Amino acid sequence: MINVALPKGRLGKKVYDMFEKAGYECPAIREDNRRLIFENEEKGIRYFWVKPTDVTIYVERGAADIGIAGKDIILEYEPDVFELLDLNMGKCRMAVAALKGYHDNPERTLRVASKFPNIASNYYARENRDIDIIKLHGSIELAPLVGLSDVIVDIVETGKTLKENNLEVIETVVPISARLIANKASFRFKTGEIEAIRDALAEDVTKENLKEAPEAVKAGGEQKGGRR
Ligand code: PRP
Repeated sequence: MINVALPKGRLGKKVYDMFEKAGYECPAIREDNRRLIFENEEKGIRYFWVKPTDVTIYVERGAADIGIAGKDIILEYEPDVFELLDLNMGKCRMAVAALKGYHDNPERTLRVASKFPNIASNYYARENRDIDIIKLHGSIELAPLVGLSDVIVDIVETGKTLKENNLEVIETVVPISARLIANKASFRFKTGEIEAIRDALAEDVTKENLKEAPEAVKAGGEQKGGRR
């Protein structure tokens, strides 16, 4: 049995669609109920609905053999897991943003608000910049509007939240997408099963990529990034 931690929400549903297409269906999961565990014994697969930020915890500790986590969560928590595949979905970017027209004064410590203090600290350490990190849990865009911080480090998807709050991106920190991750011991003991899942999902990712940008994918080869 392979235990899969799926992130609850829109991304999780799309990810489950991929598993289903890959031959790992579990029809009960589509029923509208509050259950958190779904199993297809015949296919040897069991799904858990997990809060997206908790997927890496379930996988790192072995409660799930594999899971789907955003690269943002992987970079923030640096879990001791294998990253097996870039699913090329849930795409967005981690960016530094500030009020339109903001000018940085490099002499002063920069006040940075973020849900991702580790990513923000690593980014500014590379830039050799002293910062005061202000950890928030949501509505990050509010911080510079009310003078809590100079800048924010946050996820930008459509850019709508920034725009509607008179903020703009100063710099992109890193592109983000959903990744298939595996518990290290599970990968050693269940290599065949996990690789079969990874390969079936990879086939679907390649097909989707071909639809998006046929020439680029052909030129780049079968598999784009994410594999170890
Ligand atoms: C995320 C992120 C931004 C917004 C970006 O917030 O923190 O606020 O989405 O999306 P956009 O570029 O498409 O506008 P989320 O919805 O997770 O809410 P929260 O951080 O306030 O909890």
